[in-house]
Amino acid sequence: MAKRAKPHATGKTKPGDTSERVGVVELEKRGVNVKDLIEKLIDAAGAEFTTYYYYTILRMYLAGHEDYKEICEDARLEDRAHFELITPRIYELGGTIPRDIREFADRAGCPDAYLPAKPSAAEILTVLLEAERCAIRTWSEICELTFGKDPRTYDMAARILNEEVEHEAWFIELLSKERDNTIRPSGHFRRGEPGEAPYSKNRGFYNP
Ligand SMILES: [Fe+2]
Ligand SMILES: [Fe+2]
Repeated sequence: MAKRAKPHATGKTKPGDTSERVGVVELEKRGVNVKDLIEKLIDAAGAEFTTYYYYTILRMYLAGHEDYKEICEDARLEDRAHFELITPRIYELGGTIPRDIREFADRAGCPDAYLPAKPSAAEILTVLLEAERCAIRTWSEICELTFGKDPRTYDMAARILNEEVEHEAWFIELLSKERDNTIRPSGHFRRGEPGEAPYSKNRGFYNP
């Protein structure tokens, strides 16, 4: 019987060459600008990390609103899960997060979610809502850049986007009721555990 050809046995990358990644070459072949993608992922990871930090403060100042605190806590822990999920991908693609955390915070793709000067529940919920909206714009862009070309980054970005869309809906519900006494249901019911991250955290990924 004639030997079947193995078309994928070799390619552009020389056998044993560790300076090149086939996992990157194949993306470039399909039109992904990997250098740009890495930069966008670092900005996005920076936003997840800083948001995790700022939400810690915002949650504290929701004092007296146990329901708001709990929902803010889910969004906070899920942002940490997002940072954990996407950071290894930056390294797989050949990138690195900055050596200095100050640089990382400065280049975050979303504004600092500062505690408002008058930290009423409505003011804090407004900051939370706008932070989620920035996250949706960020992950939608990553999904668009990778769709049909980089299934691994796309899958991670889509998982994160799933949760960001939920977070926006939660804060619309809460702000609308708190500030305007208007009912705009989000479909939310509490997570099983704080920060459960049903889409972005699962056993299939190393993501403690
Ligand atoms: Fe997030
Ligand atoms: Fe979020």
